[in-house]
Amino acid sequence: MKLEIDQRGLNAEIETLAAISDAEPPAVTRIVFTPTDLKARARMISLCEEAGLTVRQDAIGNIFARWNGADPAAPAVGTGSHIDAIPNAGKYDGVVGVLGGLEAIRALQRSGFRPKNSIELLVFATEEPTRFGIGCLGSRLLSGTLSAEAAAKLKDRDGETVDEARRKAGFDGNLQDVKLPRSYYKAFVELHIEQGPLLERAKTSVGIVKSIAAPASFRISIDGAGGHSGGVLMPDRKDALCAAAQLILASENAARSSGAVDTVATVGVCDVFPSAVNSIPSRVRITLDIRDTDLARRDGAMQAIERASQEIAAKRQVSIQLELVNADAPADCAPEVRTALADSCRQHGFRFLEMVSRAYHDSLFVSRIAPTGMLFIPCRSGHSHRPDEYAVPDDIARGALVLAETLAKLSA
Ligand code: GLV
Ligand code: MN
Ligand code: MN
Repeated sequence: MKLEIDQRGLNAEIETLAAISDAEPPAVTRIVFTPTDLKARARMISLCEEAGLTVRQDAIGNIFARWNGADPAAPAVGTGSHIDAIPNAGKYDGVVGVLGGLEAIRALQRSGFRPKNSIELLVFATEEPTRFGIGCLGSRLLSGTLSAEAAAKLKDRDGETVDEARRKAGFDGNLQDVKLPRSYYKAFVELHIEQGPLLERAKTSVGIVKSIAAPASFRISIDGAGGHSGGVLMPDRKDALCAAAQLILASENAARSSGAVDTVATVGVCDVFPSAVNSIPSRVRITLDIRDTDLARRDGAMQAIERASQEIAAKRQVSIQLELVNADAPADCAPEVRTALADSCRQHGFRFLEMVSRAYHDSLFVSRIAPTGMLFIPCRSGHSHRPDEYAVPDDIARGALVLAETLAKLSA
């Protein structure tokens, strides 16, 4: 079997997809179920159909593109990632795993390889938490990690529910049917940019993921008292933004003082009401994203933040409500998938680094129902979730090649 990746074609497809965006280039913004997202999905479907794959979509909008194996009834070998993008993102997050996965399948087809197990490319719906506040809705539903009832009720900032938004976008099947049986996949493997600097620092172009860190997040509402910025004297204030500022620093401190660099906490959203120069903020909504490779340590940091919120609320006489959005366990990658990835690297003479994924991915949830692994390629300076995110075409092609080899091993 001679596997050849069409590096130029793959790169051109990444550029074409990046142009389907609601942001000025080089930034990419593609929020789930917007016309832009639907256009990008239509493009992916036509590329999959051109490759002779059989395409279906489920009720949340996960796209499955299948290359039937010699034994179509046997569990499939899956690969894929996402094409939705946070506001002001780059071109490669998720996209490398989707277009690289498709190119891996096409390279296998060109080589004359015929899989025993079907090989299926998955484009997960709504991996990013931008719209509905929680990431990986598609993979949470298909793995049964989140119930259809709970998912349907989630709302975006405009009050539109997942159920309304997906139906408007043309996905009106039954959300209960998204869940896949444990026997569906024999194995799953996701190609992704590292979103950190370790591969680049180690001058190594392939990473094999050992485990995926545990993410959690809170939606936090802080209610104080508004008033005139000139008239209300400092002793009388119940400034919600000052309380939020203190809580944000307490969160940073909880992460910094956990005893390990693996604990990270981020407040990425802060909505201030009424947001006027001469008005004391009466209401603030923030989000807190907190992660760790160690579940107990992450939970310890979450408890420290909850305690800090009670102290700040009492001291400043404001109300602070923490709503837990998600608190997921970490995942270990499956030994058989890691071995297949390592053997594929060795076969092609590529050095690799075994590493932890600090970002979450749909693989975190697929791992609940199937042996799962991940393959990383470097991204420049580790930058991701910003417009200057960049992966070298040679590295992308190398990732697609290792993926193709691994899919062949797993499906033979
Ligand atoms: C995924 O985009 C993450 O936030 O880890
Ligand atoms: Mn992302
Ligand atoms: Mn991603």
